[in-house]
Amino acid sequence: MKKFGVGIIGCGAIFGVHAFPLHTIENVEVKAVCDIKPVAREAAARLFNCDAYEDYHDLLKRDDIDVIHVMTPHYLHAPMVIDAANAGKHVLSEKPMSITIEDAKAEIDAGRKNNVTIGVISQNRYNSASVAIKEAIDSGSLGKVVGQRILLAWFKPNEYYQNSDWHGTWDKEGGSLIIDQSIHILDLARWFVNDEIVSVQATIDNRNHPVIETEDTAEGLIKYRNGVQSVFYATNNYTYNSPVMVEIHCEKGTALMEFDRAVITYRDGKELNVLNNPNDVLNEAEYQAFFNQSSSQTAFQTLSKWGVIGAPVTMPITWKTPRPYWGITHIKQIKNFYESLTAGVQPDITAAEAFKTQEMICAIYESAKKHKPILLNQTKE
Ligand SMILES: NC(=O)c1ccc[n+]([C@@H]2O[C@H](COP(=O)([O-])OP(=O)(O)OC[C@H]3O[C@@H](n4cnc5c(N)ncnc54)[C@H](O)[C@@H]3O)[C@@H](O)[C@H]2O)c1
Repeated sequence: MKKFGVGIIGCGAIFGVHAFPLHTIENVEVKAVCDIKPVAREAAARLFNCDAYEDYHDLLKRDDIDVIHVMTPHYLHAPMVIDAANAGKHVLSEKPMSITIEDAKAEIDAGRKNNVTIGVISQNRYNSASVAIKEAIDSGSLGKVVGQRILLAWFKPNEYYQNSDWHGTWDKEGGSLIIDQSIHILDLARWFVNDEIVSVQATIDNRNHPVIETEDTAEGLIKYRNGVQSVFYATNNYTYNSPVMVEIHCEKGTALMEFDRAVITYRDGKELNVLNNPNDVLNEAEYQAFFNQSSSQTAFQTLSKWGVIGAPVTMPITWKTPRPYWGITHIKQIKNFYESLTAGVQPDITAAEAFKTQEMICAIYESAKKHKPILLNQTKE
């Protein structure tokens, strides 16, 4: 079996969530890491006993690296993905693909031109609750989808932004609530409908975060070619990270995904309940052993922050609560990516697939800024 040499660009908060899967996949070896912050790259390099670079271009020059993971601030995704593809590397990028639609297209073009695979993280598609709903809809047992309602009410204190050198900025994060937090539930909702979006009408506002220039509240209406109407409301102004929710209204019943569970209710009275089981995804003891055996405090703190191990170091308790059940399925997507590379097939979530959600995200911002609906995919009528 081919062994893939891996390079990681960006060793910040999300690093540990990629590091553990990479450590567990048999035909993967992390050869080098890169971060502009010496503390971050040195801690990450110690974890894998590998080389560390300050400039990612140097990492891309290595012949023994086949795959690059991009885990940097949003505005750097497109240039790094494109440079990696041009260097002949496969890429797995954190969400979002990019800040602009033009950059997202350029990533797809770079992948095709260089005949490399580009994957984009959207790990919540692998949660048991998400899979159960997708299967129920695709099987046809619920009949046609007719509508959706989506709710995200989370908590982000001003300190979350003040402690970051890129969150809360248009040029580096590309927005906030929609492109960073809501993207997960909006991607799931779009994946459930699985049709082309024809129009997006939305508003955004900043109601309670004076320290940032981007949005903390948004609402909108998304219309699909098959007639589905999707309504959403999202805010980072709630008092804790409450369970994220999407309900899919179908001809023969409803599918409700709330945080860690799916409830599929048929009109004939039948009901199916599915619960995400974190133990199916991660072995907490193995996680702890991996990070404890290293001197990587950065990675250890990352996982604590995510609520994956132990108590959070500095985070309020409300930040920790949802994490053990929602958003820890990276391990499944990363395995799918490497299994696909090994088999010579496309992974589940390619750049072309992620583009459909990126288009929706960019249209939400465009609609809000221009105060009018944005029409998509109109030429294919
Ligand atoms: N899928 C998820 O659920 C999830 C959760 C959290 C974060 N993320 C995504 O992961 C990405 C990173 O987020 P984070 O929370 O780890 O951010 P972070 O700020 O903690 O880490 C980013 C790292 O990138 C490094 N960096 C910045 N510029 C660089 C450059 N030119 N070269 C090399 N390194 C550079 C920074 O020094 C920092 O260590 C974002 O795209 C974010 O949206 C995804």
